[in-house]
Amino acid sequence: MNKQRKILAINGSYRAGGVTDQAVSGILDNLKALDVDVEHIKLRDYPVEFCMNCRECMQQPGDSPGRCVLNDGMADLVQKIENADGYVLAAPTNFSSVTALFKRFSERLAVYGYWPWGKPAPQFRKDKMPKKPAIIISSCAAPGVLGKLTYGTNRNLKIAAKTIGGRVVGSMVTGLMSQERAQQLPPQAQRRIKALAPRLLPSH
Ligand SMILES: Cc1cc2nc3c(=O)[nH]c(=O)nc-3n(C[C@H](O)[C@H](O)[C@H](O)COP(=O)(O)O)c2cc1C
Repeated sequence: MNKQRKILAINGSYRAGGVTDQAVSGILDNLKALDVDVEHIKLRDYPVEFCMNCRECMQQPGDSPGRCVLNDGMADLVQKIENADGYVLAAPTNFSSVTALFKRFSERLAVYGYWPWGKPAPQFRKDKMPKKPAIIISSCAAPGVLGKLTYGTNRNLKIAAKTIGGRVVGSMVTGLMSQERAQQLPPQAQRRIKALAPRLLPSH
């Protein structure tokens, strides 16, 4: 029944096998076990350039993402976002916010805004569209509660989710994640992952 459902994960961690990779893979493994089609995009392996703030992509009206003037992997990634039924958006906290890797990607989500010259502020193209479920995942060296309350990481991830037409149905902030070189997710995080994954399914 879930075979046709596609969940796209976009991961802004620099570190292969780190805490973010473990958490995202955990969510996706749980979904695979429920017959869901999943894809894990690691931004560190994906060719996404910096936005040039030219706003060309924001001039075209309509619900569909605008066309960016840059010719890199972003057009392909936007197509994957459009085709997905739900999202996992993830990034560790670096210097109190998402990584620059995730921020670079999220600034390219300008294609999801309509902001013609002469207007003071953009409109979100997906504002009036049905929302797709999204889970946001972050981690930090600080205790989790402190990280959730004081860092911009979750706010950055939420804005990215809203921009692509997502509705956040769950989040996980894992704290105290920097004392070991090969840090492993603790058992309570594994349990949280198991509980979160089904929230991306329609029956939930
Ligand atoms: C350069 C750098 C900056 C960091 N900045 C913060 C920070 O501001 N606050 C915090 O609590 N943890 C910070 N951390 C710790 C990471 O958020 C934490 O180790 C995270 O779990 C790493 O995720 P990863 O395993 O996916 O790389 C920082 C780590 C690095 C390497």
